[in-house]
Amino acid sequence: MKRAQQHAIWGRRGTFILAATGSAVGLGNIWKFPYIAGENGGGAFVLMYLLCICLIGLPVMAAEVMLGRRGRASPIMAMQKVAHESRNSRSWSLIGWSGVLAGFLILSYYSVIAGWTLEYVTAAARGGFEGFDGTTASAAFSALQADTSTLVQWQTAFLCMTALIIMFGVTRGLETAVRILMPLLFCLLLLLLAYAAYIGDFAAGFNFLFSFRASELSMEGLSLALGHAFFTLSLSMGAIMAYGSYMPHKQSILKTAVTVGILDTSVALLAGLVIFPIVFANPGVEPSAGPGLMFVSLPIVFGAMPLGEVFGTVFFLLVTIAAWSSTISLLEPAVAYLTERFRFHRVAANLLIVFCAWLLGLTTVFSLNRWQDFKPVAGMTPFDLSLFVTEQVMLPLGALATAIYVGWFMNKRPLRRELALDSSRWFVRWLLVLKYVSPVLIAVVFVLGIFDKFV
Ligand code: PHE
Ligand code: NA
Repeated sequence: MKRAQQHAIWGRRGTFILAATGSAVGLGNIWKFPYIAGENGGGAFVLMYLLCICLIGLPVMAAEVMLGRRGRASPIMAMQKVAHESRNSRSWSLIGWSGVLAGFLILSYYSVIAGWTLEYVTAAARGGFEGFDGTTASAAFSALQADTSTLVQWQTAFLCMTALIIMFGVTRGLETAVRILMPLLFCLLLLLLAYAAYIGDFAAGFNFLFSFRASELSMEGLSLALGHAFFTLSLSMGAIMAYGSYMPHKQSILKTAVTVGILDTSVALLAGLVIFPIVFANPGVEPSAGPGLMFVSLPIVFGAMPLGEVFGTVFFLLVTIAAWSSTISLLEPAVAYLTERFRFHRVAANLLIVFCAWLLGLTTVFSLNRWQDFKPVAGMTPFDLSLFVTEQVMLPLGALATAIYVGWFMNKRPLRRELALDSSRWFVRWLLVLKYVSPVLIAVVFVLGIFDKFV
């Protein structure tokens, strides 16, 4: 990403949508959404998740894009500038801070999971999924989890890939990745959907995801749905704010946010529709299999379909690339901050953060094997703890602060100006939701969620 003296602005209108979609679509959609939906009963979770996206995620996303574009700087500095302009306390820039920190924590475990996809690229290419059924696929996944050195090797490889891109500038590569490879990923998911429907139990999978059973509603599910809505849209981490700062003025913020939200949600639902028909047709895989769900169910499909090696390799490669375009946006705000604020050299900032993320990521790797029984807080391994602290604490609080700031404190003049391209009716509706609906919902779900977890 070019960062000249003057803050750069992306020339083409489509670039923001592409970059934001690249950030949003990632492991959250294909790996995480199906497994947390599976662990929390399916339909009821999906419904709560969709409500969280519409009533909270999209309005907050628009707010973040707006803050970034108004500030025209990296998240922490952008928040300072906007707060200054609106005569508000500069402590609102804490929003930027907590975002950069959450992004760093997420990067640490996200790169471990992305490492699993790299391992599966090579396994697919070797034809390693031949004749897989539920039991053999689960055994293969467990073997990988137990293999510390392989996990660390792929985690390291993935972090190096991310560091490289940040070093050589993002825009070009990101544009190609998103413009060509994302549609390819989408098409491949459609193909897998057809095949999964053919060899799997499509009706059971569909029913699991989309039929509402009130008995499955749980506080934990609701609080996960909320956290995941932020995670999947890349909110409260400075990522969307950072990209917003490059967005040209002649682009409508609300429409853009809705577009990115629709793309992101469709990839997640599609992934669920591929995975669950397989799960229900294969004994040995449970919907509640946890983080391994995608890595156990998809190899069964690749093992059974004609040309499965080719499709499997390409698919896992595309998932890696989707994860890659997400980690780039996780890393960029922190790097930008160190360079802007402390005059770090870009390469030094990059290497420093990646190294720290790597170190911290080792605790995630060990949680899967050596430290399996090391549960320092509330029965959570360090990996569980990173997931909990980011998704269920930092992201909701960051989004709450963003909604409150934009809804209640920010000066209305610059706000109206940034949303000038949207009709005043939609502007008013958006502001109402941001003022009253989103913060109340976030606060209630957050408090009840913490209560449910610890009391
Ligand atoms: N939204 C990404 C996903 O769903 C994860 C992510 C979070 C990326 C935050 C960047 C910033 O996989
Ligand atoms: Na996502």
